[in-house]
Amino acid sequence: MKIDLLTMVESGGCSAKIPPKQLEEVLKLLPLSSDPDILVNIDTHDDAGVYRVNDELALVLTTDFFPPVCSDPYEFGQIAAANSVSDVYAMGGTPVVALNIMMFPSAKLPVEVYTQILKGGYDMASQAGVRIIGGHTIDDYPPKYGLAVVGYIHPHKIITNAGAQPGDALILTKPVGTGVLLAGQRMGMTSEEDLKAATDLMKQLNRSGADVMKKYDIRGATDITGFGLAGHALKMAKASKVTFRINMKKVPLIGHTYDLVDAGCIPGVSFTNLDFAEPDTHFAEDLDYNLKMIAFDAQTSGGLLFCAPDRLKNMIIKDLRKEGFQYSEVIGYVTEPDRKILYLDN
Ligand code: CO
Ligand code: CO
Ligand code: CO
Repeated sequence: MKIDLLTMVESGGCSAKIPPKQLEEVLKLLPLSSDPDILVNIDTHDDAGVYRVNDELALVLTTDFFPPVCSDPYEFGQIAAANSVSDVYAMGGTPVVALNIMMFPSAKLPVEVYTQILKGGYDMASQAGVRIIGGHTIDDYPPKYGLAVVGYIHPHKIITNAGAQPGDALILTKPVGTGVLLAGQRMGMTSEEDLKAATDLMKQLNRSGADVMKKYDIRGATDITGFGLAGHALKMAKASKVTFRINMKKVPLIGHTYDLVDAGCIPGVSFTNLDFAEPDTHFAEDLDYNLKMIAFDAQTSGGLLFCAPDRLKNMIIKDLRKEGFQYSEVIGYVTEPDRKILYLDN
């Protein structure tokens, strides 16, 4: 029997995140632990927490798991693992060990599917140099999978959401559109070719992109996932107390993403993301509506968004393309704090 995991979910991957507004309200109610060794906590909405062990070593801790984002169990495992370790790369860390987090309906699906998901996770983790040393499974439908990851970082080399400086260029390493293309697939609108492109991009580790960031001593970065390009850009600009200006025409798109949005294929989560960002965002009067919605498209295992000194941008783009991020692009720049935190220009 051929199992299609996508038939089990309405929104898979990072689209399944709870709405950002709700999350913020809940997090506000929780006390922040104070400990001088906590170097990064949820205060800056960063990708991972960072805890100092000594002057030379800090741990980067993160977890991500989600329902299926593709039909094939093995590929689902690969994408979930690539997405989980990405938060360590976004902080400039080196992922080292991980635990499997799995929800699996053992009465509804053959155990072969379970094995294939884990196998995909293991293979991607080894590609990242990460050892999976345990995990936990509960019975649940639909299946969900991801990793809790521990990485190493030097306490003085942490890359955070708060590291953007006025004058910096904004660099994006992967094209966007995974949310749109996956929603389009459900409606039979996405071509095989575009689906394959999206799947390959979701499987691409952000590892060598992070190596480029480290080479140029980048201080501000995040990875693009469930809140969309604009949502994550906004979180970063807020944490850095600056304004971001993104030129939506410069944002690289996967395959026919634009055409699908133009034909009405806009996932519901894009509107939730838009709703969250709207009060802090200025939309150019002539901003194309399709590009506006693409800015809020939830990405699964998306690329890195980082800030680089303007004089380095061309060299960085060259390096990224050489490392296999051939769609890397400068998509905007950072300014002093303005009337709004994020500007989406045409
Ligand atoms: Co992240
Ligand atoms: Co995450
Ligand atoms: Co357990």
